[in-house]
This record gives sequence, C-alpha cells and structure tokens, in this order.
Amino acid sequence: MKKVVLAYSGGLDTSCAIKWLQDKGYDVVAFIANVGQQEDFAEIEKRAMKTGASKVYVEDLQKEFVDDYVFPTIRAGAIYENKYLLATALSRPLIAKHQVYIAHKEKAKTLAHGCTGKGNDQVRFEVTAKLLDPSLEQIAPLRIWEFKTREEEIDYAQAKKIPINVTKKSPYSIDKNLYGRSIEAGVLEDPWVEPPEEIYDITVSVEKAPNKPTYIELEFLEGRPTKIDEKSLNSVDIIHELNKIGGANGVGRVDAIENRLVGIKSREIYENPAATILYLAHQELEGLVLDRETLHYKQAIAQKYAELTYYGLWETPLKHQLDAYVNQTQERVTGTIRLRLYKGNCVPVGRKSKFSRYKEELATYGKKDVFDQKLAEGFIKLWGMPF
Ligand code: ARG
Repeated sequence: MKKVVLAYSGGLDTSCAIKWLQDKGYDVVAFIANVGQQEDFAEIEKRAMKTGASKVYVEDLQKEFVDDYVFPTIRAGAIYENKYLLATALSRPLIAKHQVYIAHKEKAKTLAHGCTGKGNDQVRFEVTAKLLDPSLEQIAPLRIWEFKTREEEIDYAQAKKIPINVTKKSPYSIDKNLYGRSIEAGVLEDPWVEPPEEIYDITVSVEKAPNKPTYIELEFLEGRPTKIDEKSLNSVDIIHELNKIGGANGVGRVDAIENRLVGIKSREIYENPAATILYLAHQELEGLVLDRETLHYKQAIAQKYAELTYYGLWETPLKHQLDAYVNQTQERVTGTIRLRLYKGNCVPVGRKSKFSRYKEELATYGKKDVFDQKLAEGFIKLWGMPF
C-alpha cells in the first residue's frame, strides 16, 4: 500500500481527505502540528484514528515556530503589503518541514494537505516540501475531488461515518496560531462591509478597551525580545503575554485587501496583537541604534523578505542569504522600548540602549550643545554642488 502523510487539522476538509485518500488506495498517516492554535489535540488525534488514519503524529512546534520563523521575521521587519504580519504564512514552511521528516521516518513517498486551489497555503506547503526533498509527491485532495459544495462534502462525511462536528461551523474561514488569527470569507467577501464584531476572538473592540492606557517595557537582545517589564520570559510566553496585553487594549486588528500569489485579490482580516507590538517596538529600537544607511537599506530587504515568506519561498537560497544579512544588522539591536497601549493604539514613548547612536549633545538646542553650526555652511555648498 502507498503511504501518504497528511497535514491534518481535525476539520471537515482534512477529515474527508483521510477517507478520500483511503478510497484511492492510500495508507494515511495523519500529522497534527501544534503551532498554538489552542485546540483539543487529544480529541483531534482520536478523530483522525476513528476516521481511518493508520497512525497519528501530534507535534508541539510552538517553540520552533517562534524561534526560527517568527523572530527572524520580526528582526527582518518583514510585512507583506504594509499590512500583513504573516502569521499564517510563517506556519506553513514549518509544518511542511516536519511533514517531510515524518515522511522520511515512515518511508512514505507522498504528502497531502487540505488547502484549496485558490489560496497561498497550497503553494507554501508544496514548494517548501519540494525544496527539502524533491523526490516526494504531493496530493491536494481539495483541488481534485468530486465535491463541489460543502453540502456534498458533509453528505460524503455522513455516508462514510466520519466523526465531524458540522453544527458549530462558522461562515468564516479561519486560520489560527500562536502568532495571529486570519479570517476570510462570509460577509467579509464584500470589501465595503465593515467586519462584524463577532469575527474577533483575541482582541477587544476599541469601545470595550479600558479608558486608561497600559504601559509596558519591552527589552530586546540582538533583535529578539527577551523581557516584558524587566521579567525574563521564554519566546513562546512573550508572544502569549503580548497577545494578552495587546488584545485587552484592542491592539492588532488589520483589515486588508491583499494580493494572493494565484492572482486573486482577497479580503483579509487579521488579529495579531503580539506581532503588532513586537514590530513597532523592534522598529523603534532599530531607529535608535542603527545608522541611517543600514536602516534605509534594510527597508528594501524587509520588503523582499516579506514577499519571499508570503510566496512560499522560505527555504530558498535568497531567503537564507537575507537571513545572513539581517543577522549581522541585529548585533546592536539591544535595548528597551517603553510602549503605551491605549484603545487600539500602540505607541512607543521611550527608548534606551547601550548601543544608542542618539547623542543629546549634538541634538540639543540647549546649553550642552557641541555641534559646530559653522561647519554646516561648507557642507551645504558641497552637498548641492554636483547638481
Ligand atoms: N491571506 C493569508 C495568507 O495567505 C491568510 C490565509 C488564512 N487562511 C484561512 N483559511 N483563513 O497567509
């Protein structure tokens, strides 16, 4: 029997995929990746077995997710189309990598996922796996199976006695991990419609946010956050904690029209309090410690880094080269940022670093001034001379 490793979420699509792959003659190994989506993994594991998986892997990838995917992206300053902090996009190459490991362990020659043919995630899963092991085959049941509607899929699930919970299905398509939540479809497909409050889960509305600001101090060591309010936390807890603080203040909601890889524009809602806070703080610290040319050049790198991440090109040579560049820029990105969170806003209000390039005696208009203003005259003459 041919063996396939299926990236399994426990939802209707991947549950039907288990049976569908079996119908096609595959021995199905289900792989459940815990990237902080806060599900009942024991329950999902049971469901996979009941549906017909011959073996189930449940792996907690949260730490690796934050250390090797989230933090490098923050250090790079990568944001797709100035809005998307890439929570979903970052989880895919990680899941694909472990899917490949499991395939090797299980001597499986085929991988499968539950993505549709219209999204980015199919590309990220398949390109990543191909880059890591070009010999592996891919099957995407949702692109080729016979079900045209959700109702047909539910009929199939019922006929095959697949244990699914269809009653509590929301009209939205939601992807969640530790780093953020992505919401699509339903009424959101009309770009003119304001997102209804019910779609949000980890952030409160601005109206419900406290009437008093919350201040936090975030400490970075070489571009990685290490402490909140002087308390050392591990990388996963930093994200949890910032999601809590940010979410309670209504920070981190994004409403975007986004250009997907397959050419479609789509309406996307994101909730990512921790990501929002970390980007703002990290950027603020870089502003203090990096020289002007590095800072400006790095913005172009950030843009490319975001595109490569979004496009499923995480494991490509260029992305790895950019990592090397970013690493070198982060040597001085150590220091503390004080932030004020208030009614959906997150604003840096204080910054300090032992590597600060800010010199008060040069900037001041007060008594301590050491800047020789007479030098400006010659500087300006030469600066404009070529033109
Ligand atoms: N547009 C985002 C991306 O491509 C999020 C996709 C989220 N998926 C979902 N089923 N809601 O990364």
